[in-house]
Amino acid sequence: MRRTASIVGGVVSMVHPDMPLEFIDTELEASVGRGLAVIEKRLDHVVESGDRFLTEAASHLFKAGGKRFRPMLALTAAHFGDPEAHGVTESALVMELTHLATLYHDDVMDEAAVRRGAPSANARWDNSIAILAGDYLFAIASELVAELGSDTVREQARTFSRLVHGQIAETVGAPDDQDPVEWYLYILAEKTGSLIATAARLGAKFSGAPESVVTALAEFGEIIGVAFQLSDDLIDILSDADTTGKTPGTDLLEGVPTLPVLYALQQEDTSPRLRELLSGKVSESDLPEALELLRGSKAMDTARGTLESYRDRAKEVVNSLPACPARDALLGICDYMVERSS
Ligand code: IPE
Ligand code: IPE
Ligand code: MG
Ligand code: MG
Repeated sequence: MRRTASIVGGVVSMVHPDMPLEFIDTELEASVGRGLAVIEKRLDHVVESGDRFLTEAASHLFKAGGKRFRPMLALTAAHFGDPEAHGVTESALVMELTHLATLYHDDVMDEAAVRRGAPSANARWDNSIAILAGDYLFAIASELVAELGSDTVREQARTFSRLVHGQIAETVGAPDDQDPVEWYLYILAEKTGSLIATAARLGAKFSGAPESVVTALAEFGEIIGVAFQLSDDLIDILSDADTTGKTPGTDLLEGVPTLPVLYALQQEDTSPRLRELLSGKVSESDLPEALELLRGSKAMDTARGTLESYRDRAKEVVNSLPACPARDALLGICDYMVERSS
C-alpha cells in the first residue's frame, strides 16, 4: 500500500499504513489498529457479489489504498465509552463504505483519472460502471446500517442527503447574492463535514458514551471535516501525484473554485496574469503556470490561516471533552489537518 509522504512527528503509526498519524497512547493505537484490521476483512467480504465483474469494480478502490480516516475517527471516538460495544465496528465500516461510494461518483463528476494511486473506476472502465459500482456500495452500506436500527438508518440517510446537497452546491456554483467564500465553506460542511461528523457521532453513540460527549464529538467531526477538505484543497495545489495518489490541479482543471482561488480573486494585489488564469477552467497547458503562481501567492497564506482557525476551533471542542488518551489523539488529528498540507 502507498504511504503518504508527510509523516506527523516523524513516526509512521501502526493505525493504518496510509494514515500517518501518531497516537501517543500505544494501547489506544493498537485497539484502533485492530478495529481497522477487522474492517478491512469485512470490506473484502461485504462487497462480494454473485457477479465477478461487479465484485471487481466495487473492490477496485478499497484495494487501491486509502487512509480509512472516517472509520479511524469512529473507532477513536468509541474510546469515550466501550470500544467493544455492539455497533461500533459496524458503524465505522458503514462510514468507509459510504465514503468509498462517494469517491466513485465524485471521480465521475470531476472527470478524475487517478484515485488512491490507481486509475479511477471511470478511467479504468467508464462512467456507467463507476456510477453503478458506487450505487452498489451505497446499497451494501444501507443493508448493513439496517442492522443498527432505524435511528441510525435515518442518520445515515440525512448524512447522505447533506453530502448530495454539498456536491450539488459545488456543481451549480454560488448564487449571485451569496458571498462565494461563505458558499464554499457551506459546500465543505455538507459534502465532507457531514460524513466525518456522523463517523465521530456513531462511534461515540454505539460505545455508550454520555450524550454530551456524543454531541461534542459530532461537533468536532463537523469542524475537523471542513478542515480536512480545506487541507485537501490546498494539497490539490501544493502536492504532486506521488504524494496524494490523485492528479494535482484537478480543481483548477474542473473550474471548481477552492479557497485559495477565491481569495486570489478577492485580493487586490493578485497579479493580473493569475487573475486571468483563474477566471474560468484552467487548461492543461496553463496548469503548471497557474499552480506556480498560486503556490507563491498571498491567497495561499490566507487560506492556510483559515485552515488554522478551523484547527483551533476543533481543538476548543476537544478540550471540552473528558481527559483520556482518545482526547489526546483527537488533538493530534487537529494538528495533522494543518501539517498534511504544509
Ligand atoms: C477524499 O477523502 C475526499 C475528501 C473528502 C477530501 P480522503 O482523503 O479521506 O480519501 P482516502 O479515503 O484517503 O482515499
Ligand atoms: C470530495 O470532494 C468528494 C466528496 C466529499 C464526496 P473533492 O472532489 O474535492 O475530493 P477529491 O480531491 O476528489 O478527493
Ligand atoms: Mg474530486
Ligand atoms: Mg469533487
